[in-house]
Amino acid sequence: MNGGEGAGGDGEAVLRAIRTRRVVRALADTPVGPEQLRAVLDSARFAPHAGNRRLHRYVVVTRPGLLRALRMVSPGMLQRPAAAVVVCVDRDRVRAYGFPEHNPGPYIDVGTAAATMLLAAHGLGLGAGPVTSFSRAAVAELLGLPDGVRPELIVCLGHPSPQQPPPVHRRGGPAWDDLVRWERS
Ligand SMILES: Cc1cc2nc3c(=O)[nH]c(=O)nc-3n(C[C@H](O)[C@H](O)[C@H](O)COP(=O)(O)O)c2cc1C
Repeated sequence: MNGGEGAGGDGEAVLRAIRTRRVVRALADTPVGPEQLRAVLDSARFAPHAGNRRLHRYVVVTRPGLLRALRMVSPGMLQRPAAAVVVCVDRDRVRAYGFPEHNPGPYIDVGTAAATMLLAAHGLGLGAGPVTSFSRAAVAELLGLPDGVRPELIVCLGHPSPQQPPPVHRRGGPAWDDLVRWERS
């Protein structure tokens, strides 16, 4: 499919997936199968990327001991994931591509990749949530990342546990037009 083909008439399904995705922090112990993991990882390359370059790298963690260690250095990881995808910016590649030091593109790309993976996980019936509250230095050390490869966001994954807390997203969030300002006429 190319971009011009749209979503093949599934626009409503796409919008429903966007609207129903929520961070899932109550996760079961069961592992995430390799096919589901691959599908989530594969989705990331379809995210929009600055300069159409894919300058970040993904480290997949499924070993329970390493997941436990990640949780210990990640105060924002409230869930016990069965798998985690650590999204890293490869600063050497960013530099080699010619992005100026403070260009936000590679960091925005972390967000587009994460959002795409969260949506893919939701579509597959997995529970997923992003975490940015963690020690970059400790995670880099645990994962043995080379110098210049910096972990920026962790996507936690697992099967949703049957017991879920009541949804919190209906607590009177803003309507879309509260967030929007139209251009001046
Ligand atoms: C950049 C970013 C960082 C986030 N960091 C964390 C985090 O460290 N821990 C966490 O539990 N949730 C984190 N979240 C998830 C948000 O708390 C969540 O998306 C928000 O509360 C809205 O909930 P919803 O996605 O279910 O609608 C993060 C989300 C984003 C976009």
